[in-house]
Amino acid sequence: MNAASYTSKLAYDTSRRRERTILRWTLLNLFPNSRIWSRLLGFVSFGTGLGITTFLITASCALVPSIIFSKYIMRWPSAFNRPQLNDTDAVKKNTSTTEVGSLTALKTFAARSQMALQSSGGPDCLAPILVGHVSLVGPNIPGSYIYTHIYLFLSRCHYYLTGRIFVDQLTEFCLKKLTKLGEIACLQARTCRLDDVVDTFACENKDNDYNVVILGAGYDTRCYRLSSIMGKKNVHLYEVDARGTQRIKRKALKDSAIQSDHVEFVHCDFENEDWLVSLQTQSTFNKEFPTVFVWEGVTMYLDLQVVYSTISKIAICGDRSCIAFDYMFHESMNDAARKSAERIGEPWKCTIDYNEMDNVVAECQKLVADNKSLLKVLDHLDKSEMKRRYLAQYNDGSYIGYLEEFGAFCLIGT
Ligand SMILES: C[S@@+](CC[C@H](N)C(=O)[O-])C[C@H]1O[C@@H](n2cnc3c(N)ncnc32)[C@H](O)[C@@H]1O
Repeated sequence: MNAASYTSKLAYDTSRRRERTILRWTLLNLFPNSRIWSRLLGFVSFGTGLGITTFLITASCALVPSIIFSKYIMRWPSAFNRPQLNDTDAVKKNTSTTEVGSLTALKTFAARSQMALQSSGGPDCLAPILVGHVSLVGPNIPGSYIYTHIYLFLSRCHYYLTGRIFVDQLTEFCLKKLTKLGEIACLQARTCRLDDVVDTFACENKDNDYNVVILGAGYDTRCYRLSSIMGKKNVHLYEVDARGTQRIKRKALKDSAIQSDHVEFVHCDFENEDWLVSLQTQSTFNKEFPTVFVWEGVTMYLDLQVVYSTISKIAICGDRSCIAFDYMFHESMNDAARKSAERIGEPWKCTIDYNEMDNVVAECQKLVADNKSLLKVLDHLDKSEMKRRYLAQYNDGSYIGYLEEFGAFCLIGT
C-alpha cells in the first residue's frame, strides 16, 4: 500500500465555513480583531448551558432516581453499577467483556458523532443517527438520552461560536499536563486514517474476493457507510468484539434501522480466547482471502503479548493482508490518565514507542509458525503527518482541534 495514495477527507475550507456562520459574523463585527471574545463567549455559553441543564434535567429529575432504580430495584447494567475493581483486579479486567459493555467505545463514537454534526467534516455520517439510540453515560439510564443530546447540541453551539471543538479547547487550555489527547480531533484523524486504509485496500483488491475485519469494533460504522466495501459480492465483512459491547451495538443498529445483514458478528474476549478461531467457528471467514484488519483504539487495552499475537496472525491470512492500528506512547500513560482509565473499568495496559516498531514486528515475526510470510511496516504516521493529512487548519496556523504527541498509527502487512 502506498502512503501517497491516501487522500484527506477534510479538504474543505474551514475559514469560509466559519465566516458564513451568522452568529460568528455578528461577534466579529461587535469585537473586531479580537477572537478571544468569541472564544470566551463560546465557553461561557457552553458552560452555563451545560451546567443548568445538567442540574435541572439530569441530576435533579433523571439520574438520581435512575441510579437508585437501577442499583436497588431493577439491578440494570449501567455505568453506575459497573463492577467495582480494586487496584490489582483493575489491571486484569476489562468491563467491555461483561454485560455492561465498553464505555470508551461510547465515548469515541460520540466524538465521531460530534465531528460529523458540527463541522460537516467528520467522516462518520452514521454516528449521529446511531448515537440517538445509545446513552453516553451507559445503557439503560432513564434521562441519560436527553442528557446525551443536550451535551451534543451545546458542543455544536460552541463550535458555531468559536470555530473550535469544546473538549479539545478545554484540554489545550487546562488539562495539558494530564493528557496530550484532545479527545475529538484526535479521534477524527484516526477514523479518517483507517477509512483511507480500507478504501485503498478495496481499490487494490477490487477484482478478487477479500475480507474486511473490524477488530474491537465498538460502534464502528465502516461496514454500513463506506461505499468502497458495501453491496459488493466479493467483499466479506466481519465485526469482532467483546460480547457485551457487541450486544448493545447490534441493538442500536436495529433500533436505528441501519441494515446490517451483510455483516457477520463474532464475539470474542481477545485476552482469553483466540479471535482467529472465533472468527472461523462463528462466521464464514475464509483466511485464504486477502484481509484488511482494522484495529482502532484497542491495542492500549490489551497485554503486549496479545498485541504481538494479533499482528502475527495476519501472516497466515491471504497474500497482501494487512492490519491498521493506533497505539499509545509510554509517556502518555501517566499516573493520572492510567487511574482514570482504571476507574471506568477499562485499564490501559500496552504502550509502544514510535522507534520500537521494528522490534514489535520482529517479535510478531517470531510467532509466525512457518516463517514464510514476512511482516513489514507499510506505513507509520506520527502526529505531524496525521495533522497535515486530516486536521483542518485555519489561516493563522491554528487547528480546529488538539492533537499532540500521544501515540501513532501503523500499517503492517505481508
Ligand atoms: C476504545 S473502544 C474502540 C471501539 C472502536 N474500535 C472505535 O474506535 O470506536 C475499545 C474496544 O475494544 C474492545 N475490547 C477491549 N478489550 C477487549 C477484550 N479483551 N476483548 C474483546 N474486545 C475488547 C471493546 O469492546 C471496545 O469495543
